[in-house]
Amino acid sequence: MAPASFPCFAGLCIVLLSLRPILSQAQPVFACDVANNPGLKNLSFCDPSLDVQARVSDLVSRLTLQEKIGWLVNAAKGITRLGIPNYEWWSEALHGVSNVGPGTRFTSLVPGATSFPQVILTAATFNESLFHTIGKVVSTEARAMHNVGLAGLTYWSPNVNIFRDPRWGRGQETPGEDPVLSSKYGAAYVRGLQQSDDGDKEKLKVAACCKHYTAYDVDNWKGIQRYSFNAIVTQQDMDDTFQPPFKSCVIDGDVASVMCSYNQVNGKPTCGDPDLLAGVIRGQWKLNGYIVSDCDSLNEMFNAQKYTKTPEETAALAVNSGLDLNCGNFLSNNAQKAVDRGLLNETTIDKAVSNNFATMMRLGFFDGNPTNQLYGKLGPKDVCTPENQNLAREVARQGIVLLKNSAGSLPLSSASIKSLAVIGPNANATHTMLGNYEGIPCKYTTPLQGLTATTATLYQPGCADTSCATAQVDAAKKVAASADAVVLVMGSDQSIERESLDRVNITLPGQQQLLVSKVASVSKGPVILVIMSGGGMDVQFAKEDPKITSILWVGFPGEAGGAAIADVIFGAYNPSGRLPMTWYPESYADTVDMTDMHMRPNPATGFPGRSYRFYKGPTVFSFGDGLSYTAFSHEVVAAPKVVSLALEEGHACLSSECKSIEAVEERCENLAFDIHLRVKNVGEMRGSHTVLLFSSPPQLHNAPQKQLVGFQKMHIEAGGEGVARFDVDVCKHLSVVDENGKRRVGLGDHLLHVGSLKHSLTLRV
Ligand SMILES: *[C@@H]1O[C@H](CO)[C@@H](O)[C@H](O)[C@H]1NC(C)=O
Ligand SMILES: *[C@@H]1O[C@H](CO)[C@@H](O)[C@H](O)[C@H]1NC(C)=O
Ligand SMILES: *[C@@H]1O[C@H](CO)[C@@H](O)[C@H](O)[C@H]1NC(C)=O
Ligand SMILES: *[C@@H]1O[C@H](CO)[C@@H](O)[C@H](O)[C@H]1NC(C)=O
Ligand SMILES: *[C@@H]1O[C@H](CO)[C@@H](O)[C@H](O)[C@H]1NC(C)=O
Repeated sequence: MAPASFPCFAGLCIVLLSLRPILSQAQPVFACDVANNPGLKNLSFCDPSLDVQARVSDLVSRLTLQEKIGWLVNAAKGITRLGIPNYEWWSEALHGVSNVGPGTRFTSLVPGATSFPQVILTAATFNESLFHTIGKVVSTEARAMHNVGLAGLTYWSPNVNIFRDPRWGRGQETPGEDPVLSSKYGAAYVRGLQQSDDGDKEKLKVAACCKHYTAYDVDNWKGIQRYSFNAIVTQQDMDDTFQPPFKSCVIDGDVASVMCSYNQVNGKPTCGDPDLLAGVIRGQWKLNGYIVSDCDSLNEMFNAQKYTKTPEETAALAVNSGLDLNCGNFLSNNAQKAVDRGLLNETTIDKAVSNNFATMMRLGFFDGNPTNQLYGKLGPKDVCTPENQNLAREVARQGIVLLKNSAGSLPLSSASIKSLAVIGPNANATHTMLGNYEGIPCKYTTPLQGLTATTATLYQPGCADTSCATAQVDAAKKVAASADAVVLVMGSDQSIERESLDRVNITLPGQQQLLVSKVASVSKGPVILVIMSGGGMDVQFAKEDPKITSILWVGFPGEAGGAAIADVIFGAYNPSGRLPMTWYPESYADTVDMTDMHMRPNPATGFPGRSYRFYKGPTVFSFGDGLSYTAFSHEVVAAPKVVSLALEEGHACLSSECKSIEAVEERCENLAFDIHLRVKNVGEMRGSHTVLLFSSPPQLHNAPQKQLVGFQKMHIEAGGEGVARFDVDVCKHLSVVDENGKRRVGLGDHLLHVGSLKHSLTLRV
């Protein structure tokens, strides 16, 4: 149809043209705009029908060395003659689309995005499908923002470092201290972000990035800075603690990127270690994607670590080690010089830049305007939808952990509680609820607002801020004494624990403890202590104080945190979260050197070890702790008592006594069994329950005292029951890593346990 015969069509064109100046602020960034630039049609890298490798080779073959170097840094330089615009690689989406990276911003067109709880609380849900669902929602909002030019396609999330020490300021960003939970979280979140809606495995919805590789978890502790910290790590700790989440990201999650960290591991900067990068990530794990440096880490390698004599040597070392992209401008400044001096060749640069371009091809960046593609219909209306905001609230309530509950305390009955005192520096928190790497949320529901929606409240902050240098005890006591119940919302915020700031002590900051105790002493009804924090706090005093009737940990619960807290406090939701990390007493922070990377205890020095897997000392609360308003019982329905390993003829262990056998593939095939556990809700309220199945292997090779085999979250009606099924692979789940990094299966008795239920299993040849 000719437009001339359709005046209304022409009219529409005029309207569109007149709107153009406004719309132009909302244009996505993309290459190969064949529709408006027919000259590009003949370039095969612009042809979506060809495979990625062919397109990438074609593109790279057309570029000068300078043009290639322009695509080795996050602020990638456009190549106008080929219709390629500038691209900013750095966007973040740790728990919602964030504007921390320069690739993403909010404007009046999209003023905010759904802000889910900080990851440490999401991990506490122990709900694997939920991890995936959050990723899916975040990538939908990211695509919607990309279509109007506000967001990138490459997101440097998640953070899967093990939360090794309670003082670490970035522990909040991680899924906790356990390698199994961290691995499952990482792979599920990555798949949620990346999986293409059309099921095409080669395509990416957005590209995720698992960081910070590896053994990175000291930020700034007593002046020791991450930029120059050398983590001394044993092979055994490396292979059974620090590496598994990254391995799972690459192998199970098929992540498109890994970020190397600032620190050194055993004397070598991670971004300049060919064994860690080319050897492990690309060689052993077969990464399909790009390796990126942490922001400015090459500069730190040169200036803070003085690891090489010249900047060109640092540039060459990184790229020759397998680095593809540099966050910062170190490579744009030094790669050419490195080539000129013969330290780096163009073939190696081609490999790096090809990995970067291949990722962008998989994202559809070279397929023309994204609004004509798979996600083309997404736009501002798909960000902060009521469903997405409800999911943020749902995640928070599934994550909140009930740590203490005296009889008659929680849930509060709205019928009998006519007035509620709401006290504490976080009682009316907004931004604090998000944690770091946040975006601008759709809206906030503060704890005070959440509680006020159900009952009349009296509010007193009690401290000027979370540091609480001087508690306003009298004012707080006054409202507490007059109310039927008290909720104290205490804890930390980013001024206490954050990136670049590790804690030195792990008690409630300043006079918070004093405030809590004084308020509790004058209260006439239930006293609920709510701890909003990333890391654990020594609240032994509150555990022991009979006047403090309940304790809840709410992490940094996201934009809807206050609504979720009220849901739990008034019993609209039965709490089901479990701690993803050990809560140590203050003495741990006073005596343990944070920079000691060992996981295993050392009796010779008195070093107590780390995490529930190795630490035997007193805890305030333990990994996996979490109560419910109902009670659950477990029994074993089916599980073997003896499992036999078949050994090949002539194996040394057939003729002599052996304590363990190497877990090699031939031997492990089909060596699996099922465990079925019946779980009953023997209380009066329906709820969700997480079955955490642990094993205690024979004590050989400095094995963990206990390790997580798997977890399963199930919903059970009051009086109802369900069956949890675990598929146990002997070599994968019951093995331990020996001193040389090899997986071995201990022979003898393995104790499987869930809560107080124990089942003994003998492994023999
Ligand atoms: C594209 O290639 C065809 C055939 O090779 C040629 O006839 C045409 O002129 C080319 N178009 C452009 C815009 O370069
Ligand atoms: C380029 O450098 C790499 C790494 O040093 C080396 O393995 C390779 O042989 C070199 N290639 C050429 C063509 O010089
Ligand atoms: C609580 O915070 C909200 C959001 O910042 C604010 O509008 C409200 O005034 C605060 N309430 C009180 C009682 O300070
Ligand atoms: C705890 O650490 C903070 C700094 O993070 C400090 O201000 C405070 O004084 C310390 N408290 C104690 C009791 O050491
Ligand atoms: C896990 O999360 C999903 C929401 O994605 C929810 O529907 C489901 O009930 C949760 N599972 C349990 C057992 O609570």
